[in-house]
Amino acid sequence: MKRLLMIAGTALIAFTAQASAEGDPAKGEKVFRKCAACHAVGEDAKNKVGPQLNGVVGRAWGTIEGYKYSPSLMEGAGEGRVWDVETLDAYLLKPRDVIPKGRMAFAGLRKDEDRADVIAYLSQYSVDGTTN
Ligand code: HEC
Repeated sequence: MKRLLMIAGTALIAFTAQASAEGDPAKGEKVFRKCAACHAVGEDAKNKVGPQLNGVVGRAWGTIEGYKYSPSLMEGAGEGRVWDVETLDAYLLKPRDVIPKGRMAFAGLRKDEDRADVIAYLSQYSVDGTTN
């Protein structure tokens, strides 16, 4: 019995850790309101102050046609940088830490959970703006 409880406990801890690392897309939709003044996602998403964000999770830096990125961001693009979860997390915490002379005028999301949630929300959109 004791052994069984231990196994159940371990499974619960593993489950909780995974849930918080992956984020909640429904909560992320609310967090995205802070981005929506400058960014669009979804079918027919247009560039606004910032580039549209369809398929951004895993997308190479600076690839949206018709959007004029900062030289700083394009330097990273030239180095082959990609918006993987880790890079996005650091950028959304403090944009200036990742792109010191970038043009994204956003203070950052201080709560780990908010960043995980908004990344989960964004990862639902593929490059053509459809959700999977
Ligand atoms: C005040 C406007 C503004 C807000 C708010 C804002 N951004 Fe941005 N974002 C920009 C601009 C401008 C750029 C282009 C930066 C550059 O060229 O250096 C950018 C670039 C990006 C990029 C790089 C995209 C690419 O194609 O390389 C990502 C990812 C991004 N923003 C995510 C977000 C998310 C997620 C939020 C909300 C948590 C957010 N931004 C909030 C203006 C904003």
